[in-house]
Amino acid sequence: MNVGQRFARLVTDIVVRRPSLWPVFRGPLRQQFDRLAPSWDSMRDARAFAPVEAALERLPSPRRALDIGTGTGSVARLVASRFPDTEVVGVDISERMIEEARRRTDSQHIRYDVADAERLPFDDGSFDLVTLGNMIPFFDELARIVDSGGNLLFAFSGGPATPIYVAPGRLRDELARRGFSEFAELSAGRGTAFLATKS
Ligand SMILES: C[S@@+](CC[C@H](N)C(=O)[O-])C[C@H]1O[C@@H](n2cnc3c(N)ncnc32)[C@H](O)[C@@H]1O
Repeated sequence: MNVGQRFARLVTDIVVRRPSLWPVFRGPLRQQFDRLAPSWDSMRDARAFAPVEAALERLPSPRRALDIGTGTGSVARLVASRFPDTEVVGVDISERMIEEARRRTDSQHIRYDVADAERLPFDDGSFDLVTLGNMIPFFDELARIVDSGGNLLFAFSGGPATPIYVAPGRLRDELARRGFSEFAELSAGRGTAFLATKS
């Protein structure tokens, strides 16, 4: 891992355990992803989202889906392409990433906003699918915005070697405490995905 990737891993490990420390890291991480935005897609290989595609195949069509840490919008577009009737929202703290996502998207069913996953501008239970591709989870917010019976999808393009990675055991523990169940793990390409359903 390069220095930026090691920093992203460090922030992930700290914030998953102590979300209250996120404000310390928000500015530097946002700057890092603002800088990376123009070249982000050129750094991804074609199979980077194989785990997302494999996991989406297991899910029913949602009414509203949210992709958190959407970056250039790849996962949001995969959700919209798999479920053409779903209204999809992608959010990211990086304005540059959101600009790139908007440039790459022509679907009327997808919109992108700048927002922080720590405190999302959506009502309780707003979404019946929430996706996170290579993104740091804020578990309290996830539990708040997913509707009963809705699903969470975590994907890590490089499995445990992904800079922003959370092990399935940790995801399961944090989510079980917050009313999620029916967990599933899968692998595709070089990556992994984790699914959970809110009871
Ligand atoms: C590793 S990139 C993944 C981008 C995209 N999901 C993908 O897999 O290509 C992580 C993204 O999450 C965003 N991000 C990090 N922390 C965030 C937060 N608290 N709220 C919203 N977005 C965040 C970053 O700006 C960056 O675009």
